[in-house]
Amino acid sequence: MTTPAYTIHEMISAKSIAARIEELAREIQAEFADTRKLVVVGLLRGSFIFIADLVRELDLPVEVDFLEASSYGNAMESSREVRILKDLRAPIEGRDVLVVEDIVDTGHTLTHVMGLLRARDPARLRSIALLDKPSRREAPIKADWIGFDIPDEFVVGYGIDYAQRNRNLPFIGRVELL
Ligand code: IMP
Ligand code: MG
Repeated sequence: MTTPAYTIHEMISAKSIAARIEELAREIQAEFADTRKLVVVGLLRGSFIFIADLVRELDLPVEVDFLEASSYGNAMESSREVRILKDLRAPIEGRDVLVVEDIVDTGHTLTHVMGLLRARDPARLRSIALLDKPSRREAPIKADWIGFDIPDEFVVGYGIDYAQRNRNLPFIGRVELL
């Protein structure tokens, strides 16, 4: 399949992202001020830049781990199948855990991942998403911290791809098909 022609319009600047991450990090630090260790779980691949910037703003004892989930649309149902492609390396029982997601769209991915991790009995389990598209929600879930609410637009950059490209853009851009 070939990707149709498109252009990208800047929606959120690199500077705004950095400023927002500083604010979010201060809130997360306050919430986990007493932690022995915070396990920060990045959902691959879209969160790799966000998690890198976020952990560098956290003055806490932090461990970094990754999980890769893949969701497959099913045209017949509103629910979707979410598969775990790569699981955490370390157990999280009794740990404080922060799940880091790039975008919450329908909400199925975050719902599945949080359910999976909750079943492992962490001490505290929280989530953060850089972007939220509330108008697209199918599963009733909201991340504990959200960087920016955005409208129903397809976005790229800052780790987020379109057909595996544009992850390296320093800003969040909206894709316009030509
Ligand atoms: P959900 O299960 O529908 O919430 O899916 C969330 C996942 O879909 C995100 O982690 C992204 O990988 C992907 N996704 C949703 N919206 C966009 C977008 O605008 N651009 C790129 N990927 C997106
Ligand atoms: Mg994703």
